Amino acid sequence: MNQLAPIITRTGQPAADDDFAAAVQAGLRRRRKALPSKYFYDARGSALFDQICSLPEYYPTRTETALLQRHAAAVAGHIGPGAELIEFGAGSTRKVRFLLDALDRPAAYLPIDISGSHLRAAAAKLAADYPALDIRPVVADYTAGLALPPASGRRAGFFPGSTIGNFTPEEALDFLRGAARGRAGGGLLIGVDLVKDPALLHAAYNDAAGVTAAFNLNLLQRIGRELDSDIDPGRFDHYAFYEPRRQRIEMHLVSRMAQTVRIGRARHRFAAGESIHTENSCKYTLDGFRDLARRAGFRPAQAWCDPDALFSIHWLEAPR
Ligand code: AVJ
Repeated sequence: MNQLAPIITRTGQPAADDDFAAAVQAGLRRRRKALPSKYFYDARGSALFDQICSLPEYYPTRTETALLQRHAAAVAGHIGPGAELIEFGAGSTRKVRFLLDALDRPAAYLPIDISGSHLRAAAAKLAADYPALDIRPVVADYTAGLALPPASGRRAGFFPGSTIGNFTPEEALDFLRGAARGRAGGGLLIGVDLVKDPALLHAAYNDAAGVTAAFNLNLLQRIGRELDSDIDPGRFDHYAFYEPRRQRIEMHLVSRMAQTVRIGRARHRFAAGESIHTENSCKYTLDGFRDLARRAGFRPAQAWCDPDALFSIHWLEAPR
């Protein structure tokens, strides 16, 4: 029987998107202005991200999807029968279908996403195609730590898309440590974007159609839609670059001029050229990521990558 009522988990602090206003004020008061990338994903941002995923320059989605399709049986063998599958940042739930098709009688599927409307729509579509599957959508911010209902059996995490790259390596270590706990006998299947030719990385975050620019600028439009503000997104430019020493893409919104932006009763001053840092997208080498997983308490059991070494997926076994 499908069960589609979203479970909203609370962890002591407000979940999902009700703290947007406070996060914006705090982020713009900093000496180096920054906004958390999780706020990209309102309804419009989630739709723009889905468009990014099919851009010719954006190799991660199609490469990872092909890897999952190709190695689904091997992955399902690692996960084992009757497992509960938890997806972090489920989004459109397109990739998980390859796993669900290969898994031996999964006990339940728990997609977690910060965007409630997006998640509900995706879960309803999935439910129509998998009528026997117990689907329990969770609207929550998994970066804040979650209180999940107790597992009925083996629990496998699924964290695709290299979303782990939004964390710095230090933050990723914390997240992985949390994921390694309470998953006895199970593990984590995780997609990780690889270090490569900077020109390919640069193109993936500076697409010719300007969708990534629209995605980045939507954060300012969201401020205009949801908060009382005179912000003009036309006064900012999308700027994304690869920083090879830190192995990461940085996305910024650069002020085209000296200006003052009012949000509520606060006024935020920008110098010409001053930026708001909106996202990190960290890249790893295969060995670099395995080392990180080991430090978090996992045993990296198997990794798969495409012939061009663009992207990788890893099965990490949790400590028993
Ligand atoms: C969803 C975090 C994996 O970093 O590639 C895509 C987000 N930002 N284009 C990424 C994103 C700009 C994406 N992740």
